[in-house]
Amino acid sequence: MLDKSPAPPAPNDLAAFWMPFTANRAFKAAPRLIAGAKGMHYFSTDGRKIIDGAAGMWCCNAGHGRAEIASAIGKQAEALDFAPPFQFGIPQAFELANRIAALAPNGLDHVFFCNSGSEAADTALKVALAYHQINGQGSRIRLIGRERGYHGVGFGGTSVGGIVSNRKMFGTLLTGVDHLQSTYDREKQAFSKGEPDYGAHFADELERLVSLHGANTIAAVIVEPMAGSTGVLPAPKGYLKRLREITERHGILLIFDEVITGFGRLGYAFAAERYGVLPDMITFAKGITNGAAPMGGVLVRDTIHDAFMSGPPNAVELFHGYTYSAHPLACAAGLATLDIYRDEKLFERARALEPTFADAVMSLRSEPNVVDIRTVGITAGIDLAPNGNGPGDRGFAALRSGFHDHDVMMRIAGDTLALTPPLIASDDQIGEIIDKVARVIRAVA
Ligand SMILES: Cc1ncc(COP(=O)(O)O)c(C=O)c1O
Repeated sequence: MLDKSPAPPAPNDLAAFWMPFTANRAFKAAPRLIAGAKGMHYFSTDGRKIIDGAAGMWCCNAGHGRAEIASAIGKQAEALDFAPPFQFGIPQAFELANRIAALAPNGLDHVFFCNSGSEAADTALKVALAYHQINGQGSRIRLIGRERGYHGVGFGGTSVGGIVSNRKMFGTLLTGVDHLQSTYDREKQAFSKGEPDYGAHFADELERLVSLHGANTIAAVIVEPMAGSTGVLPAPKGYLKRLREITERHGILLIFDEVITGFGRLGYAFAAERYGVLPDMITFAKGITNGAAPMGGVLVRDTIHDAFMSGPPNAVELFHGYTYSAHPLACAAGLATLDIYRDEKLFERARALEPTFADAVMSLRSEPNVVDIRTVGITAGIDLAPNGNGPGDRGFAALRSGFHDHDVMMRIAGDTLALTPPLIASDDQIGEIIDKVARVIRAVA
């Protein structure tokens, strides 16, 4: 029998919640607790106003506490809390899919909804495998990702992902997976603004994998147009185009994971538009609801979608989906969010702000231990040299110092500080973030 304490938990007892991707013991010893948010700021439970240099987690592109989104969610909850998404539908799901498809490059006309970036990655990989099956090419079962790629934490996304700490404890993962090399070469690319000049040739590695495995065994390649979670690694100039040429030549599907880059982060609805490259699928999440409700999805080329629409009309075409696919509250949040992006021209705003943002971040170059800075869109990675306690310790110290002592929130990836503020940031607010980050970098020197 379970021996449970009869006493109810204390209101601020932090023990029960096993926090995701968190140093739990360090957090619980000195918590970073958030009570509210508005515009460019978070409010901590001890009453401090903390400027958001991270758009939450690359989510809140329109800033926090948007009344339009909150009201849309509230109204939707009263009108319709839930409807089964299998064999039934809600009008808002169709409307939202149409709106997203209209923002995407021509040809990406269909949307499969799920609840997160991880589910979106796994969905796209499954669609790729299934597509080849129904297209008479069932030998195409290999999936190719990239070192330093992040595609969430499902078994599919983890397998094609290229972060050793995310992989090494979880066995063999999916078999038949291979990886391209990362596009980052500090020696040749350090302190690049925007896409580095060097590195288009990293795409040619795919030809090597094709020679090794045979094109007829490869289903899909999945990459982020800008690798975010491993420290902001923009695609080198020409790299994505070359990847598209090679995949097309060999009948391999190309998936862009735009969970971060979707919805304005790089100044366009999707990075595919910025780079003039048409992938076969685009995954998205985060910015679709401005972070206000969990939602993800996959944009799919019409040719792929249509291939599934060929069997008996009463038969399910794809045996895949989630109880909360196109959840009414998420659809309402998504529609309200897209209205804001459109009405406030936030994608265009991000594009216009990019040079100012890049110059501001590059001003940190002379701060102690800064060994590289990369910027693209409204996103930057600042690499700090590791301290004597090993990789990641200085980065974590910076995260804590930022929150507790300098009232700035940022993301970290090891010893890289990632800045990715909401797209509503003013020049002054960008200046404030940079000023605070400079003080943090000095504090952890
Ligand atoms: C490119 C990319 N793909 C997938 C994911 C996973 O998204 P989620 O945490 O919503 O599952 C992330 C999350 O940061 C991401 O950056």
